[in-house]
Amino acid sequence: MKVKQLKLGPMDNFSYLVWDEDTKDAAVLDPAWQPEKLLAAVKSEGLKLHCVLLTHGHPDHINAVEAVSVAPGLPVYLHEADYFMLEHRPAGLKTVADGEQVQAGSLKLGVLHTPGHTPGSVCYTAPGAVFTGDTLFIGECGRVDLPGSSPEALYDSFVRLAALPDDAAVYPGHSYNGDTSTIGVQKEYNLYLKLARQGRRADFLKAVL
Ligand SMILES: [Fe+2]
Repeated sequence: MKVKQLKLGPMDNFSYLVWDEDTKDAAVLDPAWQPEKLLAAVKSEGLKLHCVLLTHGHPDHINAVEAVSVAPGLPVYLHEADYFMLEHRPAGLKTVADGEQVQAGSLKLGVLHTPGHTPGSVCYTAPGAVFTGDTLFIGECGRVDLPGSSPEALYDSFVRLAALPDDAAVYPGHSYNGDTSTIGVQKEYNLYLKLARQGRRADFLKAVL
């Protein structure tokens, strides 16, 4: 599997292209801000895009969905608990649920429902990687003071993330404090993941608020 991280737009958002190196079957995660840059990368790498995967429904992660999905008629995956924040539903919208595998041609990504930042936040997993959206940043966690946010749910989600393999690369939804890390390193140096790993719920809730 190969990953291309693209930092786009005024809020240091990351969009990702993920693909199977043998077949070039690919998915695009959180297409936003500068679809021309994403599409140029698809072309230069010779990728076959199969679907759009959304980590959550905030506009800064989805505002280029239709620019990449409509013409080729791609399915657009978003957990339905975030549908309420869509101004309108893009064509091809499909829900994802915890534990599902999303197929992008020969590429398969797992779905981990990780509510907290938003009720429908998900992380996508692949061998050796996890795409964490606005749930887990390098050294930080996502905001929980927004409509639909829940600090308690974020704690449970962090407990789940702390159980992922230490060598899994972390690919966050924004370039805050860094661009990538591993679950093992974040378990040591990310206060929130450390508290979740240690089962310190009360301290976690105090720290996020
Ligand atoms: Fe967000």
